[in-house]
Amino acid sequence: MPRPLRRAALIVHIVAAGAWIGIDVVVATLVLAGRFGGTDQIRALAYQALATFIIWPMLTASLICLVSGLILGLGTRWGLIRYWWVAVKLVLNVVLCALIAFLLRPGMADVAAYGRALTVGDGDPSTVSALFFPPAVSLTALTIATGLAVVKPWGRIRKGGGRRGRGQTRQA
Ligand code: HEM
Repeated sequence: MPRPLRRAALIVHIVAAGAWIGIDVVVATLVLAGRFGGTDQIRALAYQALATFIIWPMLTASLICLVSGLILGLGTRWGLIRYWWVAVKLVLNVVLCALIAFLLRPGMADVAAYGRALTVGDGDPSTVSALFFPPAVSLTALTIATGLAVVKPWGRIRKGGGRRGRGQTRQA
């Protein structure tokens, strides 16, 4: 891959990963405000903001991170399943995208309904009792992925599969 293209893909990749982590921090803040906010009005607002604004920006950032990661993997010597650190990041990214699209997104209508019910002092709290998990799981996985990207540990998946082996971690 030409160097300018690789640099552009890397910039997009890092910005998308950073945006994704930032959105997760906002999710954690809204979940905490929804649970511990001082008044029912604040809690209702937090749940409605969570249900209304979060999913699409988060899904977009995660997909941009995935696609730019695929471009970087395929366009450089890192490959997609040549090095453990890339393969593990690929699995983490795909699993997180699937969780956002198929687990988190369908539950948001109930979260919004709970937020609306709170404004009249009503609602079933079991609807939102598991909302701590998404930001906790996602922030942990994204921190691990960032660590893997920086440290690039564990070397090749198939030993002896090329001239460069373990310990040769930087692109020339
Ligand atoms: C799970 C979310 C991800 C995060 C938080 C993340 C984070 C990062 C960061 C911070 C870097 C820059 C490291 C550096 O320059 O020292 C990076 C580079 C890289 N990432 Fe990701 N990444 C993720 C997903 C992926 C995926 C899914 C792939 C490929 C399938 C991938 C492939 C790469 C490659 C190949 C590089 C090195 C590019 C180069 O130096 O030429 N990443 N990633």
